[in-house]
Amino acid sequence: MSDFAIAVLISGRGSNFIAIQQRIEEGSLPARIACVISSRADAPGLAYATERGIPTLVMPGKEQPEEKITTFLLEAFRKYDVALVVLAGFLRKIPRAVVEEWPDRIINIHPALLPSFGGKGMYGRRVHEAVLAYGCKVSGATVHLVSADYDTGPPVLQRCVPVYEDDTPETLAGRVLQVEHALLPEAVALFASGQVVVSGRTVRTGATKLTQS
Ligand code: GRF
Repeated sequence: MSDFAIAVLISGRGSNFIAIQQRIEEGSLPARIACVISSRADAPGLAYATERGIPTLVMPGKEQPEEKITTFLLEAFRKYDVALVVLAGFLRKIPRAVVEEWPDRIINIHPALLPSFGGKGMYGRRVHEAVLAYGCKVSGATVHLVSADYDTGPPVLQRCVPVYEDDTPETLAGRVLQVEHALLPEAVALFASGQVVVSGRTVRTGATKLTQS
């Protein structure tokens, strides 16, 4: 098994977490989920982790002081010797002190093409409603580095999906989710292979226009 240990943070269903774990189990993603951290004790994704023998932790509630949440996360990352933190449907803000301690090693998946349709309050169905209300012809998914503000870190990977005229928020969400399930494991694989180089807002992943010989 790979030594590239990741922590996956979830808040609900956890289908992106499951997509990563499935890639690992089928051997196409050289990484290991060292722990799953949930912002909610009743997140359905936790049961899947427990079935797989992956350690799970539940974060202190958001009414708790930020320092307590910071200490909890940093101690968990250290305890499990984590190399990358992956937010997969995680709905809480990561404290600034954690971002500063972990520069360029925390990624998030967002179900739209940032910087459009992101920011505070833009999650779940609301994102797809807003895309349809604007009349967009494309949407997609973005994996980005996490900064101290919602959805503002530089993109690592982005992929488009078409928006159809008869789309509902649910049909569009389903099409975007399929892309998310491919894109997030791809991003983890890039980090695991050491291919990611961050320079300001440019995240180089080895994608070039020219075919390498
Ligand atoms: C995904 O669409 C993700 O992009 C967004 O919330 C949803 C979570 O889905 N942040 P899941 O919990 O991974 O199934």
